[in-house]
Amino acid sequence: MSNLSLDSENLKPFLTDQEVNDLQSQINLCHDGFEGGTGKGSDYLGWSCLPSGFSDTVATEIISTADSIRNICDAFIVVGIGGSYLGSRAGISYLSSSFSNQFGRESVPEIYFAGQNFSSDYHADLFDLLADRDICLNVISKSGTTMEPAIAFRLLKEMMEDKYGTEGARDRIIVTTDSSRGALKSLADELGYRTFVIPDDVGGRYSVLTPVGLFPMAVAGIDIKELMEGACQAEILYKKPSLDQNDAYYYAVMRHLLYQKGKTNEILATFQPAFHYLADWWKQLAGESEGKDLKGIFPSSVEFTPDLHSMGQWIQDGKRNIFETFLILESSRRQLKIPAFKNDADGLNYLAGETLDTVNEKSWLGAASAHKEGDVPNMTLKIKDRSPYSLGQMFYFFERAVAMTGYLNGVNPFDQPGVEFYKKNMFKLLGKPGF
Ligand code: PA5
Repeated sequence: MSNLSLDSENLKPFLTDQEVNDLQSQINLCHDGFEGGTGKGSDYLGWSCLPSGFSDTVATEIISTADSIRNICDAFIVVGIGGSYLGSRAGISYLSSSFSNQFGRESVPEIYFAGQNFSSDYHADLFDLLADRDICLNVISKSGTTMEPAIAFRLLKEMMEDKYGTEGARDRIIVTTDSSRGALKSLADELGYRTFVIPDDVGGRYSVLTPVGLFPMAVAGIDIKELMEGACQAEILYKKPSLDQNDAYYYAVMRHLLYQKGKTNEILATFQPAFHYLADWWKQLAGESEGKDLKGIFPSSVEFTPDLHSMGQWIQDGKRNIFETFLILESSRRQLKIPAFKNDADGLNYLAGETLDTVNEKSWLGAASAHKEGDVPNMTLKIKDRSPYSLGQMFYFFERAVAMTGYLNGVNPFDQPGVEFYKKNMFKLLGKPGF
C-alpha cells in the first residue's frame, strides 16, 4: 500500500492525456536503462535496490552503535555537507518534535549539524553551546576530502581530544566514508575510529538509505527498520514501468512535459515546518541530478503560509515559467481546535471549534486554485502521516522520480561535474599545492 498519492487534476488545462501517454515508450526505454544497468551513470545505480538489500546485520550494527552512542552523550554532532547530511537532517526534522533539541526525550541526545559552511561564527557559537555537553560525533564524507566537513572535523576533533583525551575522543567519533579511498578513510584506519561504509555504487545525494542517513536517524531515536520497510514497499511500487501504476514515473513525466513547455522552475510548496529540510534534501537531489549540459528544471521551495505573504505575489503574478508541486501532510499527529472568544473582537468566531488542519487545508486549496488561475500548473503529492514508514516511501519516491526525469531529459542524473569548478578556483586562491 502506498502512503503517498499524486493528484494532477490542476494540470489538466496545461497537459493532455495524449502527451502523457506518448511518453510511455520513452519511459520504458529509460526504465530498461535502470533495470538493465545500461543507462547513463549506471555505476551509481546501487540506491535503487538499497531497501530490498537492507539486511538485519546492517540494521543491528547501526542500531547497536546508535544505542551505545546515546548512552554516553547528550549532544550528537553530524559533520557533513550535501548528500552527506541533508537526508538525515530531513528525516530527523520530519519525524521529531519541532523543538526536539530544546524539549529532548530521555536517552535521545540533542542533534546538531556542522561542516556545511565555512562560517566562523556558526562554528564558534556551536562550540560555545557544546562546552558543557557530553558529545559524540559522526563525520560523513564519501570522498573523504570535502573541505567544509574536513575543517569542521579538525576543529571538533581537537576540542574533543582536549576534553576527553585521545583515547576518550576515539570512542566518541564514528566515521562514515568510502570502503577504501580518501583521506577520511586513512585517518579512520590510522586512529582506529569505528566506521560505517558508503557503498561504492551509491552517490552522495542518493545515500539517505545507507548509514549516511540511517545512523544519525537511529541516534535520534528513529525506527530505521520501519523507515526501510516503507522504502522497500516503495521499491516494489515504483519499479513498475507502466505510468498507470507508477506515480514516481508519472510525476517525472509531468515535470518533463512542463519543462518542455517552458515551465523551467519547479516550486515545492509545503504547509508544514516539518517539511523544511525535506525540501532542502529534495532541492539537492533534483538540482544536482538534473541541472547539467545546459538543461534541467531549477528546483526551489517555499514554505506556506509564511511565503504566501512574500513569494506568493511572485507566484501569482510574476514571470510565467514556473510550476508548483504541493507537498501535503494528510494528517497531523495532534489536533488543535480554535477557541471561541466571548465578544468575538477579532471576528474569528465563525472558525471556533475548527481545527488548524482545516484552516491549513483551505489555505492550500485556495492557493492551488488561485495559482492555477494565474497560469501556474500545479500538482499535489500527499503523504499520509509523519511516520518513518511514510518517510521511507517518500525518500525512495523522489529518488526514482528525479533519476527518471534526468534520463527523460538525456542527462546523467548521478554525476555532478559542475560542482568541481568553484572548488578549483577556491583551492587556487587558498594556495593548495597543485592548483
Ligand atoms: O551528491 C553528491 O555527491 C554531493 O552533494 C556530495 O554529497 C557532497 O558534495 C559531499 O560529498 P562528500 O560526501 O564526498 O564529502
